[in-house]
Amino acid sequence: MKVAIDGPAGAGKSSIAKAVSKKLGFVYIDTGAMYRAVAVYAIEKGIEIKEENFTQEVLDNIKIDITYEDGTQKIFLLGKDVSERIREADASIGASNVAVIPAVRLKLVELQRTLAEKTSVIMDGRDIGTYVLPDAEVKIFLTASSDVRAKRRLLEMKEKGMEADFETVKRDIEYRDKNDSEREFAPLRQAEDAVLVDTSDMTIEEVIDRITEIIREEK
Ligand code: DC
Repeated sequence: MKVAIDGPAGAGKSSIAKAVSKKLGFVYIDTGAMYRAVAVYAIEKGIEIKEENFTQEVLDNIKIDITYEDGTQKIFLLGKDVSERIREADASIGASNVAVIPAVRLKLVELQRTLAEKTSVIMDGRDIGTYVLPDAEVKIFLTASSDVRAKRRLLEMKEKGMEADFETVKRDIEYRDKNDSEREFAPLRQAEDAVLVDTSDMTIEEVIDRITEIIREEK
């Protein structure tokens, strides 16, 4: 069974997908981590994020591996664990920028589809229900107001000991919303057959219960 969870930055997709996967015994696939890893590659190699710089040769050099430790996804770039590095602010903005480039998307979508072939998955991202797994049995579009999303993201960053302030986090989220929705190839969009869940006034537990219920109804 395949479950697609899409929605804008900070809607709680990854926390929810992780918790529901654990509860139902699915594998959770975080596709944003892959775009983030490509951004980290560009940042570390000093490659400006522009379509013409991502030639086939450059793309072939970007080796991304995904592993699972106790159900948690780890991501490796050229054999190095970058699971924490990809959460920094430059990797968030960079991910949204590399995600506009069709060749980058095609490379990552191939990896995502291969991972989803093997087992029951909950995959989260922006284009999972519309493009990566159009046949997913359950599609959810998770959203919340940009204020709520920025507050949640700020809290998450502070808990990890990262420097952040509300205005910057909100500005970054709004930048990504616009960039992710307005790109031409596989933009952020609710699939026609997706269930919309607005989490602005819901607790994490309520969202987890709601999504679990939607999946159980389909099973
Ligand atoms: O979900 P996230 O915040 O980790 O995603 C980082 C960026 O990657 C996001 O702003 C847009 C891009 N992305 C995408 O274009 N398609 C996906 N399926 C997942 C992420």
